[in-house]
Amino acid sequence: MTMSLGRSAWLIAFVGVVALKVVTARITDIVLFGDSYTDQSRAHSIANGTYPGKDYKEVYPPADTAADGGFQWPFYLGLYGNYTIWNYAVGGAVCSNKLTPLSDIPDVSSGQQAWFVQDHVVRNGTSHQKLLLDPASFIVIIFVGTNDVGVNSFVTNDQGTNVSLPNVADCQLDTLRQLHALGARQFIVNSLVPLQLTRLYSDSSDPTIYYPSPPHNGTVWHRTIFNLVHSLNRILRDGVRTLDTEWGGGGSVQWFDTYGFFEEMYNHPARYFNGSVPANVTGQCHQCPDPDDWRQCGIGDCTPDERDSYMWWDELHPSEQTGRNLAAEMHRKIEGKSKY
Ligand SMILES: *[C@@H]1O[C@H](CO)[C@@H](O)[C@H](O)[C@H]1NC(C)=O
Ligand SMILES: *[C@@H]1O[C@H](CO)[C@@H](O)[C@H](O)[C@H]1NC(C)=O
Ligand SMILES: *[C@@H]1O[C@H](CO)[C@@H](O)[C@H](O)[C@H]1NC(C)=O
Ligand SMILES: *[C@@H]1O[C@H](CO)[C@@H](O)[C@H](O)[C@H]1NC(C)=O
Ligand SMILES: *[C@@H]1O[C@H](CO)[C@@H](O)[C@H](O)[C@H]1NC(C)=O
Ligand SMILES: *[C@@H]1O[C@H](CO)[C@@H](O)[C@H](O)[C@H]1NC(C)=O
Ligand SMILES: *[C@@H]1O[C@H](CO)[C@@H](O)[C@H](O)[C@H]1NC(C)=O
Repeated sequence: MTMSLGRSAWLIAFVGVVALKVVTARITDIVLFGDSYTDQSRAHSIANGTYPGKDYKEVYPPADTAADGGFQWPFYLGLYGNYTIWNYAVGGAVCSNKLTPLSDIPDVSSGQQAWFVQDHVVRNGTSHQKLLLDPASFIVIIFVGTNDVGVNSFVTNDQGTNVSLPNVADCQLDTLRQLHALGARQFIVNSLVPLQLTRLYSDSSDPTIYYPSPPHNGTVWHRTIFNLVHSLNRILRDGVRTLDTEWGGGGSVQWFDTYGFFEEMYNHPARYFNGSVPANVTGQCHQCPDPDDWRQCGIGDCTPDERDSYMWWDELHPSEQTGRNLAAEMHRKIEGKSKY
């Protein structure tokens, strides 16, 4: 009896030491930069007149819905991992407005980073800065590129004459270097998703709400976007490895194969989609019957019960259920348990 009590006391003490180690290394905060694939409602807030959104607090449904028709994946990541989420992503954003200008929306390399600095870095002059977050306690996730390579940019050959994919990749890597200089030490770069699977970049030449006119050649877009996504992903992945080596333990950057994970969902839909109709990875829930009139969008949508059956919410954006799946996999990634 005494013996067994002593043993459990020892066990508790031992477990206590192990738990302490885990606690000191625990990730408590996630910082995100990106576009509408990640934004909860900053873009809406800006459109609503609260630009530049410094004191903006995330608005969640039913007050507002993200580009996935509901809660965006960082919300679920926060839920699954008990993380505090700092989501600086804005719908429509690119890595750099100087490289691939589409709008004045705060970009990942400057405007979004400026928000991060406002929230987390104390500066009292040019040379002194202090990061308020513990570098061991947070991870930065960058997930951008869809707009950089998309319509009115590379896929339609509208990029600047002196702008190439390596410039776009370097923009992401330089953003990591800047955040590293501010004191951040742990990063994940998400690859671009298989955009050729979306309605917008399918091989159909039919107009869509995101490109109602002029007429385009769907076959050409479909093939071009495939090449762009693969090329940018390859350059980024190699760059991430180089940067990880460059920091030599004074920082770590991991690659998340979002492309591979989306392919997995596409190829095994029944494992991932659970609405009231059979899983659907080719169509989308949200309908825009007249591509020239966005006010008609919503007519013919799937029902709320059916939503989670769809991989795509609309002609470009993943669904909320795809976001839950991504969040769950990203949580595994952060815990070192993901193969992506
Ligand atoms: C838009 O502005 C209104 C009025 O200020 C506010 O109630 C609402 O929450 C804002 N919506 C968003 C998405 O910021
Ligand atoms: C969630 O995180 C907070 C803050 O880091 C912590 O106080 C709380 O104990 C955590 N809850 C669980 C269930 O782990
Ligand atoms: C700024 O911070 C540095 C480092 O903490 C300190 O040495 C310096 O005196 C500060 N300068 C001002 C103007 O507060
Ligand atoms: C492209 O040219 C413009 C105008 O000359 C210049 O401002 C910009 O820096 C150049 N971009 C690159 C990536 O070289
Ligand atoms: C689209 O482009 C492909 C490849 O260049 C060509 O074979 C096809 O005829 C074009 N389709 C139309 C409708 O112009
Ligand atoms: C589908 O699964 C997710 C978890 O991935 C769950 O949160 C959601 O409520 C489920 N949807 C339905 C319609 O059961
Ligand atoms: C998938 O959804 C679309 C609606 O976007 C529908 O037209 C199509 O028939 C569905 N496919 C299957 C296999 O259910």
